[in-house]
Amino acid sequence: MNTYKVLDLPMRPRRLRRTAKLRAMVQETTLQLDDLILPIFVVDGDGDPEPIKSMPEVFRLPIPQIIEKCQELYELGLRAVALFPRVQSQKKDDQGTEALNLDTLVLSAARALRVALPELILVSDLALDPYTSHGHDGVLDLSGNVDNDATVAILAEMGVLAANAGIDIVAPSDMMDGRIAEIRRNLDDSGHIQTAIMAYSAKFASAYYGPFREAVGSERSDTRSPIDKRSYQLNPSNFREAQRELLLDEREGADFLMVKPAEPYLDVIRYASDNANLPIVAYQVSGEYSRIWAAAERGWLDLEACMMESLTSIKRSGADLILTYFAERIIRYRHLGGISSGAESS
Ligand code: PBG
Repeated sequence: MNTYKVLDLPMRPRRLRRTAKLRAMVQETTLQLDDLILPIFVVDGDGDPEPIKSMPEVFRLPIPQIIEKCQELYELGLRAVALFPRVQSQKKDDQGTEALNLDTLVLSAARALRVALPELILVSDLALDPYTSHGHDGVLDLSGNVDNDATVAILAEMGVLAANAGIDIVAPSDMMDGRIAEIRRNLDDSGHIQTAIMAYSAKFASAYYGPFREAVGSERSDTRSPIDKRSYQLNPSNFREAQRELLLDEREGADFLMVKPAEPYLDVIRYASDNANLPIVAYQVSGEYSRIWAAAERGWLDLEACMMESLTSIKRSGADLILTYFAERIIRYRHLGGISSGAESS
């Protein structure tokens, strides 16, 4: 047997990790139902839920089934949903004309939800990519570039239509310059002073949006090759540019600032939370969801544990709210409180 001497230590941090109860007592970050927003994909008609191959447990749903699901989850504690449309390709054109139709899928879903669940918080994405045949978030100018100011004018109109349909929070996800101020002005001018703006402020040109683009069908319909959005979304290597975008949106009148994706950009979330006096939202995007699922399906990672570790880390870095496709699972199975304080390990 080795002999050893008892160390003379002023601090023994392991003291507070000894039992599950002690660990729970000193846990710093806990996930709550109030923190979660569930993204929902809306599809036409009243058929069966359509599975999304790259996103297990996520479906495109027709409106009657959305109502049913939201009613069920609302009883269990769901607070907020974000609506995304799967637009039929024959309704798409290069101008995204369908976005200003009074009966878009999103607006119809919003009106139905508003009646069924008056207190459910409704968020709608404002961007043109579900509606354009080329899949870009805006309209193109003559040289094929996304035309900033022409796009902003459309987004501002979309914002008013969303507010008319009962949406509580509009969420521009397009990354055009100056859109927050313009959307705010249009909302106010049309009397919607209470409609809030959740700005996708630091949205990076990320490869993790792939499964989402499958879900809403915003891949380029001709080639199915990835769309290059780098002329408007941020370069993943640029931190100071992300700061600039966050501060601009705060100044333009956003009510929430969003960082997206979430887990690869915890430094940006931390910065936003330390420097802006607004609620900070993080979007755990489709690819972040799918990579955890894929590894879990192979038996390489534990789904529940990685889900909670990921969401807890996002919250710990300073996010007040998280958009996540895991919200439904968390609400159904009551995975709250943050990563388990681990009764099972010692
Ligand atoms: C569209 C939009 C995207 C996402 C949300 N809104 C995709 C994109 O910018 O290409 C991604 C969400 C996800 O991946 O879960 N403007």
